[in-house]
Amino acid sequence: MTGKHTAVSCANIAFVKYWGRKDDVLRLPLNSSIAMNLDHATTQTTVAFDPTLTADHVTIENTGTTPQAARRVSDHLDRIRARAGIETRARVVSRNSFPMGAGIASSASAFAALTAAACAAARITLSERELTILARQGSGSACRSIPAGFVEWHTADTSAESYAESIAPPEHWDLRDLITIVQTEHKKVGSTTGNALVHTSPFADARLAAAERALTIIREALLARDFATFGEETEQEALRMHAVAMTSRPSLLYWSPSTVRILQAVRAWRENGLPAYCTIDAGANGHVLCEGIHAAAVEAKLRALDGVQDVIANRPGPGTHVINTHLF
Ligand code: PMV
Repeated sequence: MTGKHTAVSCANIAFVKYWGRKDDVLRLPLNSSIAMNLDHATTQTTVAFDPTLTADHVTIENTGTTPQAARRVSDHLDRIRARAGIETRARVVSRNSFPMGAGIASSASAFAALTAAACAAARITLSERELTILARQGSGSACRSIPAGFVEWHTADTSAESYAESIAPPEHWDLRDLITIVQTEHKKVGSTTGNALVHTSPFADARLAAAERALTIIREALLARDFATFGEETEQEALRMHAVAMTSRPSLLYWSPSTVRILQAVRAWRENGLPAYCTIDAGANGHVLCEGIHAAAVEAKLRALDGVQDVIANRPGPGTHVINTHLF
């Protein structure tokens, strides 16, 4: 045994979405994206390389471990073994603080925590930038869960240039993401498949051009804490991503009637003077964005909506970090 190592990562919510790749193997994105880490949606992962094992042993708690998920973890461990020059198999236990596969980017926090814990266990020391590049190859959005707070992931033609970095620390802005849970079962089509279908939508090029413009608008509004400009562009960007998903072949319709109810409610509240905007990932849950001073009022209204099962309130979260509390 080389000892156990544990890392904790936050999920993240993208304001400019990653949707579409120029390289499926290296997971190089078509466009740059910007996200915020979510302090109440975390994954804790413990890894130990064990010479007595003949195969990796992977346990994903609270959801059960599917053979596909275990395979993806092993493939990622292979990248880390190659870096470390070892062949030893590993024991991996992972636990989420939130339901998997329902529009909270569980693969982001999962692959960020796995990358950091496995690198520590394999005794390789990488810079934050190198960790983001490695995490990206496990799951694209995972690279944004390595740095702290508000994070930008750069599109590039080479793996070495497509990394993520913090553009503002968590304390920069008291922005909240109220994850509004309307569905907790696994979505039918994961984001890896969805991302591969982008080019089949007739709107793909228009959305890509708009995402490039949105990157500057959202980065500047975020740095200036201009909530109205930020929220307006973020909601539009989510609608454009879903327009591409809906018009892909096969068509991907992630929304449920409750998703539309949240969108319409948020718009009505806004018209009545309560500033909030909505974004949606590859699932039915709404992510309602507001500033700290309005969070209690928005959360109370969300909880009263038909179909809402729970609300997970998040502040900007820290980057991936190694801790001493192990899962086995
Ligand atoms: O990294 P993946 O395969 O989980 O893709 C994430 C895709 C979205 O959540 C829909 C958008 C994003 O940028 O997080």
